[in-house]
Amino acid sequence: MAAKPRIAVLGAGLMGHGIAQVFALAGHDVTITDSVAAALVSAKDRISANLRDLGDDVSAVERVRPTSDLADAVRGADYVVEAVSEDLSLKQKLFAEVEGHVRPDTILASNTSVIPITSIMQGLRERSRALGTHWWNPPYLVPLVEVIGTEWTSPQAIEWTIALHAAAGKKPVHVKKDVPGFVGNRLQHALWREAVALVEHGICDAETVDTVIKAAFGRRLAVLGPLENADLVGTDLTLAIHKTVLPDIDRRPGPSPYLERLVAEGKLGFKTGEGFRKWSAEQQAVLRAKVVQHLKKARADDS
Ligand SMILES: NC(=O)c1ccc[n+]([C@@H]2O[C@H](COP(=O)([O-])OP(=O)(O)OC[C@H]3O[C@@H](n4cnc5c(N)ncnc54)[C@H](O)[C@@H]3O)[C@@H](O)[C@H]2O)c1
Repeated sequence: MAAKPRIAVLGAGLMGHGIAQVFALAGHDVTITDSVAAALVSAKDRISANLRDLGDDVSAVERVRPTSDLADAVRGADYVVEAVSEDLSLKQKLFAEVEGHVRPDTILASNTSVIPITSIMQGLRERSRALGTHWWNPPYLVPLVEVIGTEWTSPQAIEWTIALHAAAGKKPVHVKKDVPGFVGNRLQHALWREAVALVEHGICDAETVDTVIKAAFGRRLAVLGPLENADLVGTDLTLAIHKTVLPDIDRRPGPSPYLERLVAEGKLGFKTGEGFRKWSAEQQAVLRAKVVQHLKKARADDS
């Protein structure tokens, strides 16, 4: 890897500006582009505000260069990461255009949440340098980056990308198959499916589900993963528990009718004031602040 690879970030929204911030703070020159002028113009201010709030080196923002011209943004880049809106044809078109302006060995990454990397990258001429990097929001507070290869991605591209993110202070992991939800969202939504089912079947209310998680195994999860936990208690005990519990756990292949009903009734969560529970503006603000405080403390504890 070159001493400090040049980075281009496509999309200056919630994820894009945060990803640019992480690389700039790690000493990389970063270009950032967006099709909406307001998003591009405010990107450096948002990055400065984040850096200030976190007590990080605010001068890092000087390494970020916004440009409205895609070709200008990616020309000379060693690494291009896309964080534009979650739209397959938009991402396909963007990468096709990017490929005309970069070297054949420039690594191309998509930060899609759920679209298969294979679908996004299939039309490229040089697919061995294309992969997924799934960051978590906010990018400067959540350490994980899932690095996803397709059947075409070269081991060198994966290795290089993992090293790039590790050197920038992230925790990259390798996802070896391009499956929906990668690893993090598969695990998260397996838990959420059962959480919804417990409420749907009247076993407890929504608040109880959240309390059980937060006051019990959620406390341990940050330091004890489920498979470490299985080894800790014994795989034999884990097997015995699975024999009793798994047959009773929700395993319907589609979304819960309860969740579908909430959406049909306009109970969309914070944005409408009610989802599984009712949320006043004040309750929403308190919960949002709590999450950020928790993530900041975890970051401080890590360093
Ligand atoms: N928000 C999250 O928690 C999260 C987490 C992981 C991954 N993602 C993924 O990251 C991507 C970006 O999500 P976000 O939350 O930052 O969205 P966002 O709406 O905040 O930002 C997307 C940005 O892309 C810009 N854009 C649209 N078309 C463009 C184009 N042709 N060229 C340049 N810029 C363009 C938009 O103007 C906008 O500023 C999505 O694929 C999303 O699924 C989001």
